[in-house]
Amino acid sequence: MKRISLFKISVLLLLLSSCGGSVKDTVERIPEVEKLISQMTVEEKVGQTAQITLDVITVGDTVWVSDEPVKLDDELVREALLKYHVGSVLNTANNRARTPEKWSEIVGGIQEIAGEARLQIPVVYGIDAIHGATYTAGATFFPQQIGQAATWNPELTKRGAEITAYETRASSIPWNFSPVLDLGKDPRWARIWETYGEDPYLVTEMGKAAVAGYQGDDLSSETNVAACLKHFLGYSAANSGKDRTPAELSEVAMREYHLPSFQAAIEAGAASVMINSGIINGIPVHASYDILTNLLKKELGFNGLVVSDWADIENLYNRDKIASSHKEAIKMGINAGLDMSMVPYQYQRYCEALVELVNEGEVSMERLDDAVRRVLNMKYKLGLFKNPQPSASNYPKFGSKAFEKSAYATASESITLLKNKDAVLPLKKGTRILVSGPNANSMRTLNGGWSYSWQGEKVHEFAEGYNTILEAVQNEFGKQNVDYVAGVEYNMYAAYHEEYNIDIPAAVAAAKRADVVVLCLGENTYTEKPGDLHDLMISENQENLALALAKTGKPVVLVLNEGRPRIIRRLVPEMEAVLQSYLPGNFGGDALADILSGDINPSGRLPYTYPMYSNTLVVYNHKPSEESVSPDGMYDYGGGFYPQFEFGFGLSYTTFEYSDLNVSENNFSGDETITVSVKVSNTGDVDGKEVVQLYSADQYASVTPDVKRLRKFEKINLKAGESQTVLFELSAQDLSFINAASERVTEAGDFDLMVAKLKTTITYN
Ligand code: BGC
Repeated sequence: MKRISLFKISVLLLLLSSCGGSVKDTVERIPEVEKLISQMTVEEKVGQTAQITLDVITVGDTVWVSDEPVKLDDELVREALLKYHVGSVLNTANNRARTPEKWSEIVGGIQEIAGEARLQIPVVYGIDAIHGATYTAGATFFPQQIGQAATWNPELTKRGAEITAYETRASSIPWNFSPVLDLGKDPRWARIWETYGEDPYLVTEMGKAAVAGYQGDDLSSETNVAACLKHFLGYSAANSGKDRTPAELSEVAMREYHLPSFQAAIEAGAASVMINSGIINGIPVHASYDILTNLLKKELGFNGLVVSDWADIENLYNRDKIASSHKEAIKMGINAGLDMSMVPYQYQRYCEALVELVNEGEVSMERLDDAVRRVLNMKYKLGLFKNPQPSASNYPKFGSKAFEKSAYATASESITLLKNKDAVLPLKKGTRILVSGPNANSMRTLNGGWSYSWQGEKVHEFAEGYNTILEAVQNEFGKQNVDYVAGVEYNMYAAYHEEYNIDIPAAVAAAKRADVVVLCLGENTYTEKPGDLHDLMISENQENLALALAKTGKPVVLVLNEGRPRIIRRLVPEMEAVLQSYLPGNFGGDALADILSGDINPSGRLPYTYPMYSNTLVVYNHKPSEESVSPDGMYDYGGGFYPQFEFGFGLSYTTFEYSDLNVSENNFSGDETITVSVKVSNTGDVDGKEVVQLYSADQYASVTPDVKRLRKFEKINLKAGESQTVLFELSAQDLSFINAASERVTEAGDFDLMVAKLKTTITYN
């Protein structure tokens, strides 16, 4: 029986959250900023809270489309910046990447006009530099976040973020709408690949690394950018699995699973937060005072800038119907706690209405000042007042070989070997290979969305110089040994789900001439809502192609290149090997070819549960009732958790053995920590990297416990024959959970600790 003595870790936080408005305003007072605020008119203040998209101020027939080559329309810029005092611009024009020189011209032109204003407040330019500087031609593209998570190596994520920050600043842009700290727990969701996967702890560790990489220790450095954590909070929890649809989310689940990553990144100093575009328990999050002000600003003490997502104040009226006019929507959003509204087009309407609301007393001056203070503080910390526009020529390392090497390293540590029957991999030099499948010869699919354009459909215009999987395999194994028949193709210029040129017999005929087939399947690119899905199964054409190729009797190596885990249950038994490449970026083809040849020993591990069935979308840290537990008696009520591949899983070309799982103390109490040690040996004949994962399971708890939870991990490199003892420090906090009263507690009792197949039990008093 479990004793009910509670060790309350967050009593203080709770007290703070329950006292609502009485919590002290802790937003920093910077004298220069305070002086400005004291001089600003209502109109000037309101303008600072508005963010517009670039197309609104460029030469072009409509506000939606810009002429090419893109040019600022000085009259429109003056209207936005001088008449309406707009404080921020985002996005690229015509949904297309630009050179650093072009960016310098655009941002420079904007800042020049901002300098004509009475108070000369610089504009803060924001962009989605998601896996590298998305909208900068020639920038270094890393694997998408899901691939970064699969490395289980936060150092690589940090380095990637540093390089992205450098190249974003090289594009004259100091603010990055990244990282995504949403939990990637529903494989149906179109934004899974933008996340660090399904585990709160892995997301937290990767998120901290990203923030450290983006921001360094000085935001004003011309190689750092302000990070933006998104999308606060519970964005991935939509009931339907479709983007921006309602979520029913309990406070316990929100605090247990969705909050920790944001909380840690805020504690690490993240400068800004973007809000969840969805609806939780009936309330659009952009109108939720509870989430934006009580939780984010008061309880978590977030003193940075809170920005809306795209058009989401308008959505309170247009989409969600909780406001009966645009004006009411603006009042709701600003009063809920938004500091900046990504309008992004009709900014005049926004500014005029907000000025009226302030004059009518519907939005208080105190609230407006708080919003403006947060905006100006960030501009100040970014060094924009001193130097609004760094020159593109100060960035000699932009797109350099050294940066590319880093992106290649991340790609090669992300690719995850899921099956390798009879050690079919690595392939010997001289093997005759048929490369097939719609993902085989596409830079677009290697990169995914947020690559040179929003949906990734313009990748071919910018990424010609990098190697597709086919080209990299040709380089690695010799052109004369490699044949290519796609069998199924995507329409590379259109929506992600279109397939055409289906010619399975041609692929089968070519397979007969080869020793092995490298079959590249998955998805074409998509981002957000356009990626909503009706069926999680891999497409029928692709399944047919795989089964037909397998039927030839030639070994088939399935290479997955997909944003989310599409169901491949019928394929897996027929494939000799399966490699998951996620969305590995511009160097993914090279990394994959090096894994196929054995130059690189794969070391990626799944950052999510790969589902086997469409109706069993269950994460690894599910509840006991979601697993098979047969009760007494004649009736079997056992549930089933039958993943295709488990979270944390991944094979290597070598073998690792675990032994000697020990704890420094079997009993501990209060805020003591214990040390967990385990010996790991590389027992094969090649060097390899292993991810050592420590899980805990609370045997009994007042809220039905997860069957297990990842608590610590470390990636180590072991030479063939080498052993290492890995140590983890574990505290009561590490074993805590959110109880029914929404308190974070560690309850006394027994906990199992598991590393690989080893297990030991400790007692917390
Ligand atoms: C996305 C955000 C993104 C924003 C600005 C929205 O549609 O949800 O993730 O940062 O657009 O581009």
